[in-house]
Amino acid sequence: MTIPSDVIERIKISNDIVSVVSGYVPDLKRAGRNWKACCPFHNDKTPSFVVSPEKEIFSCFSCHVSGDVFKFVMLSENISWIEAVKKLARNANIEIQKDNHNAIKPSEKQKIYSLLERAAAFYHKNLLCNPDAAHARQYLSKRGVNDLSIEKFFLGYAPKGSLLSVAAKQGFSAEDLIKAGLIAPATGGSLFEYMSERIVFPIFDVRGQVIAFGGRVLTDERKPKYLNTPETAVYSKSYHLYGLFQTLPELRKERKAILLEGYMDVVIPQQCGVVGAVASLGTSLTNEQAKLIARHADSVKLLYDADDAGRKATRRALEILAEEAIESNVPALPAGVDADEFLCSYGKEAFSTLLAESKSSINWIIESIDEESVNLSPEKKAKLIAEYFSFVMKSPNEIIQNEYIKKISTRFIVNSDVVWREFKRQKYLQHRKKYYEKKK
Ligand code: UTP
Ligand code: MN
Repeated sequence: MTIPSDVIERIKISNDIVSVVSGYVPDLKRAGRNWKACCPFHNDKTPSFVVSPEKEIFSCFSCHVSGDVFKFVMLSENISWIEAVKKLARNANIEIQKDNHNAIKPSEKQKIYSLLERAAAFYHKNLLCNPDAAHARQYLSKRGVNDLSIEKFFLGYAPKGSLLSVAAKQGFSAEDLIKAGLIAPATGGSLFEYMSERIVFPIFDVRGQVIAFGGRVLTDERKPKYLNTPETAVYSKSYHLYGLFQTLPELRKERKAILLEGYMDVVIPQQCGVVGAVASLGTSLTNEQAKLIARHADSVKLLYDADDAGRKATRRALEILAEEAIESNVPALPAGVDADEFLCSYGKEAFSTLLAESKSSINWIIESIDEESVNLSPEKKAKLIAEYFSFVMKSPNEIIQNEYIKKISTRFIVNSDVVWREFKRQKYLQHRKKYYEKKK
């Protein structure tokens, strides 16, 4: 069975080498940019085994064994390369398609990367130098984005419909641009350039390769405010977080992430020195994105907009983060103000205070159901408490579950052993139900 190279690449990106190795080598400790331990492959007395998250490799300078995450699993489990790939695919919930007739060739993928890189450079240069982009520069400056951020995020401006002719001069066809997600066929045989006349936010993967773009309109209110380039052979949006690449060096040290809604909600905090600000790219948080966060952070603050949609997205994201057993907290943004506006209006100090005063996930969830909790009938009380169980069940860790249950017991003034027993009973019923559903 041949697995397409882009799938292998995705499996590799989704399995951070440090987390995988830690699973086998519990004494792996951080040492600057790298991680160290006694080598698991020979009788090692001093730590000679090094893992580099940046280079995505391990090596032992004593017994000279080295390789990538697949090689590590092969050696640790004494299995073949293909078995290691399959195991890590399962780990990351990636399905390996048996039918790979449409598999994309590595050279074709390389072409897409190269095209996206050139497009990003073209848009960036236009933002900096094109007289037609003066209003875009003005707009960014009005929103408080400085030159350093323009460089750091490689922001750009797409002059009206000029990408195709520029790319043609460099040997790329319209079909190449379509495959890269830069343009799309439109009605009447014309071509539509996604970023045209927009401020361009390139989306990078964790290795710093441009994989997609988001673009914001400047003037035309009738158009969608943001437009994203579609999924392609190099871009599946549920696997990436905007701003992660830019904050990764500091995030690796602090291991605290902040999850936000939009592009500007990431750019402005990072510009103000806030570490770990990332966004889930216009969609609600996915399991893959939560895994990506869990790989680089131990806790996350959820800073979605303080409106109804934002609250719903928060509840959903808390459940997904609970499944990864990441500590999550919710700061209380004032209604109608997003993170970018908050920082611009109140400054970094106030933002730090806001983050410090976050509520833990379970407290936020308990308080989000705005119900009188004391003078309830026994039946109503039991029903309400059961509603929280679905959240508690998301956690894969019984200690965490038990802590959540204690909070619920306090809030509803019920003996916590009783709530715990009822929780375990409900959990058992759920498992049984799922088991029989699977068997059907
Ligand atoms: P918002 O509408 O909250 O915009 O969308 P924003 O981030 O505050 O934008 P600014 O501050 O006005 O520039 C939040 C995010 O949802 C996605 C984008 O990722 C955006 O950053 N979005 C929004 C879209 O994909 N399309 C849209 O039309 C609007
Ligand atoms: Mn905003």
